Amino acid sequence: MNKKAILLAGGAGTRLYPLTQIVCKQLLPVYDKPMICYPLATLMLGGLRDVLIISTPKDLPMLKDYLGDGSRLGIRVEYAAQPKPEGIAQAFLIAADFLRGSGASLILGDNIFYGKLDFYRQALATERGACIFGYQVRDPQRYGVVEFDADGRAISLEEKPKVPKSHYAVPGLYVYDERVVDFCRILRPSARGELEITDLNLMYLGKNELHVKLLGRGMAWLDTGTQTSLLEAGNYIATIEHRQGLKIACLEEVAFRCGFIDEAALTAIIDRLPKGEYRDYLQLVCAEGPTGAHDS
Ligand code: DAU
Repeated sequence: MNKKAILLAGGAGTRLYPLTQIVCKQLLPVYDKPMICYPLATLMLGGLRDVLIISTPKDLPMLKDYLGDGSRLGIRVEYAAQPKPEGIAQAFLIAADFLRGSGASLILGDNIFYGKLDFYRQALATERGACIFGYQVRDPQRYGVVEFDADGRAISLEEKPKVPKSHYAVPGLYVYDERVVDFCRILRPSARGELEITDLNLMYLGKNELHVKLLGRGMAWLDTGTQTSLLEAGNYIATIEHRQGLKIACLEEVAFRCGFIDEAALTAIIDRLPKGEYRDYLQLVCAEGPTGAHDS
């Protein structure tokens, strides 16, 4: 598997104003850590170590300040600007030099996944075509929606349909083969002036090369696009963390458990952390060793 990762963390965050007046959306807290930790942890747990973070010219410095070049987490993080939110699929055009012909997985910076990530690792191992996912939601009209035939094959995809053909939303986690940049070069902006991720997926569907896997009930997919969903996501994370005494998307822990950093590197990180609950937690993780509780 030679895929690279793209984390799209741009946009104006208008729906979260005035919070986003001060700090970019993807650095807002989801309970005890910045939002971007959750999608970044998902990429890392998928085994991806080359990550391009795309954001606005205004927000990039703050993101760089927080994550740096990724070396402390045993990964490589690069950055690129998207001056205007001209569509999710534009990410691949911006990432063309970074990808240099490899396949790519894209995650949206406001999407949170919690649960067993085997489905994602399998998708990353797929050589040809694209893999997207379906997740049952109450309000599919807010999302890309996928429809299946009686044999479970995807037959249609629509972006925010007024009358959805199914209850299956397409989460903001996508996997593509190395043709993705060429396909995006053919895309034209939609009526709302964006290069639509759904149009890219339709190209793969048209070639019979779109794999759509349903995520079961054991998986949590949360989005944080509105004040209410942001609060709900925070409460969800807090509930699980309190119950288990384990943190979700603690990046240093993920890096350690994935084998991206060793005990010496984790100890060096801990030594530089301020005293507090986060440091105490990492000390426990370090003492336990890399093979403790795992996944997400
Ligand atoms: O969350 C999953 C949904 O994400 C999918 O089901 C939809 O098919 C997909 O279009 C997208 O819908 P959203 O309505 O959530 O898209 P939104 O425009 O809010 O963008 C999602 C995130 O991506 C948001 O945090 C901002 C960022 N973004 C978006 C665009 C269009 C960018 O960084 N650049 C962009 O150009």
